[in-house]
Amino acid sequence: MTISTIEWEGDENGSIKLVEQTILPGELKYINCGDTKSIWDAIKRLGVRGAPAIGIAAGMGAYLGAREIKTDSSAEFLDKFDEALKYIGSSRPTAVNLFNSLDRMKKVADQSKDKSVSEIKTSLFNEALKIHTEDKECCRNIGKHGATLIKDGMGVLTHCNAGGLATADYGTALAVMFSANEQGKNIKVFADETRPLLQGARLTTWELMQAGIDVTLICDNMAGHVMKLGKIDCVVVGADRIASNGDAANKIGTYSVSILAKEHNIPFYIAAPKSTFDFEIQTGEQIPIEERGSEEVTEGFGKRTAPNDVKVFNPAFDVTPAANIAAIITERGVIHNPNTENIKAMLID
Ligand code: MRU
Repeated sequence: MTISTIEWEGDENGSIKLVEQTILPGELKYINCGDTKSIWDAIKRLGVRGAPAIGIAAGMGAYLGAREIKTDSSAEFLDKFDEALKYIGSSRPTAVNLFNSLDRMKKVADQSKDKSVSEIKTSLFNEALKIHTEDKECCRNIGKHGATLIKDGMGVLTHCNAGGLATADYGTALAVMFSANEQGKNIKVFADETRPLLQGARLTTWELMQAGIDVTLICDNMAGHVMKLGKIDCVVVGADRIASNGDAANKIGTYSVSILAKEHNIPFYIAAPKSTFDFEIQTGEQIPIEERGSEEVTEGFGKRTAPNDVKVFNPAFDVTPAANIAAIITERGVIHNPNTENIKAMLID
């Protein structure tokens, strides 16, 4: 099953076509972003979301930034391109895929500095498309490696949405489930609804139902009870940024799920591509955590559910320590009991 979450439509004069995720599952609508402002806005308000999809959007957005620069001087172009990269980087702080894509785009621009501006723009266009294509392959390989951990009949809990909607193709955590399903394994998935923006309820259940996978929606605060009832054999979630030592940031609530899994002796797996690793930081304490507007908590989806002027704290992510993670499933293979050494051995050439 594939949902075309994000595509480049047309040639170098074209635009980014993406699924408007804020209105799913009620409506499946595509929007086009043809300038940096509109893609910045789509990332910020979660029109496009999920770490790998944000990374792809950032790469394509960087190309849009390059296209908007009107000069024939390569030196002036490179200065202005840096500004465009900074602007796109200011959209959301936690998913490192965004910054890894921007770094790739900057490297391509810097390496082409002796070329004409129009040639630099073409190199950037090709790099943006490459980021997109590579992610498709990553999803398939994560699915293949992750499915080895899933046995027929297992109950699997997931949190937030790490599916096709969060990537170019097949997801990360959900890739594991799609792949196991394709191998004929019957699994029963429990999807946390994922307050406050309900990515689990709105997106994960929608994707799994389309694939014909048995999925049951639960409120976030039901996970412990469902584990105690013996319905969960493993947890599989995605990640937004993984530190060198394996500490992993993912959607708020993931850390609590990892503690519940530990208490119930249930293996807790993270599925993520190399582009979600941040080798510049040693531990999860260095991961910047996005804080979002109070209205997401007090009047989610238009209905006020808290007193006016109540104080609100709304961090969008939390960090699960590597000690709580049984394995990280990557496109290159499964890293059991992740730590700085075995992560490096698997991912650094
Ligand atoms: O705020 P979101 O919806 O972008 O958060 C998404 C998540 O936390 C996902 O689990 C993560 O990005 C992995 S997606 C493959």
